Amino acid sequence: MQRRNEKKDDGFTPPQHIAVIMDGNGRWAKHRFMPRVAGHRAGLESAREIVKQCIKHNIKVLSLFAFSSENWRRPAQEVSYLMDLLLTGLEREVEVLHKQQVQVRFIGDRSRFSDILRSKIQDVECLTVNNTGLVLIIAVDYGGQWDICQAAKALARDAVAGLVNPDDITPEHLAQHLSYPDLPHPDLFIRTSGELRISNYMLWQLAYAELYFTSVLWPDFNAAEFEKALAHYAQRERRFGYCSEQLTES
Ligand code: IPE
Ligand code: IPE
Ligand code: MG
Repeated sequence: MQRRNEKKDDGFTPPQHIAVIMDGNGRWAKHRFMPRVAGHRAGLESAREIVKQCIKHNIKVLSLFAFSSENWRRPAQEVSYLMDLLLTGLEREVEVLHKQQVQVRFIGDRSRFSDILRSKIQDVECLTVNNTGLVLIIAVDYGGQWDICQAAKALARDAVAGLVNPDDITPEHLAQHLSYPDLPHPDLFIRTSGELRISNYMLWQLAYAELYFTSVLWPDFNAAEFEKALAHYAQRERRFGYCSEQLTES
């Protein structure tokens, strides 16, 4: 278990999994007297840059919150633009991601997507499934409550089928049914744009993540800002319930 992020001769123990809420696209556009969607377009460029940085730093998993279960409440025009941007963005980026050995996975409820988007998502996942580099999780129509709920449903089905006794269910059992049971949970959580909330992102998986909030708007979040987040993470002592003295002794 990694308890601390001690400075080592060759740097520091980097986070294995970085989870990001890419927020502030709308405000970025508004400051420039541009439509909100221009902010989303600019935000895609930041996402591309952060993928590059994660590859450079040998990060194992990057998970980007692209569209929440609650974002359907936005004006229909913006929702439709975001869905189109996801589709065209995937079409444009997939070859490069594949060449970089990135394994792309999507988490969230796919039932509300158009057939064409659903099939594109499936194509991208199939194409990159055996890649051994960065795992890029894209959370679309995702909500932490939805994730826990679908895990609970799976457990309930197991119980009805007699595969598990409800009294024997542990947090580990439930975790096995969450969206990516084979990958480590986030070590570092980044949210841009100054909002200090989790907005129904990975509620379960963020239990012990180090939280980093910055007022920088997502389209302005670049390599230098990413380095700042890593530097903050390097200063944190991760205790996981132990006291600091125990960690120093070990
Ligand atoms: C984040 O930027 C992108 C999505 C939620 C899809 P916002 O669109 O939330 O930007 P602000 O918060 O309005 O500035
Ligand atoms: C969270 O941002 C979702 C994504 C970045 C995809 P929001 O901008 O939707 O969050 P709230 O509504 O301000 O909490
Ligand atoms: Mg926002």
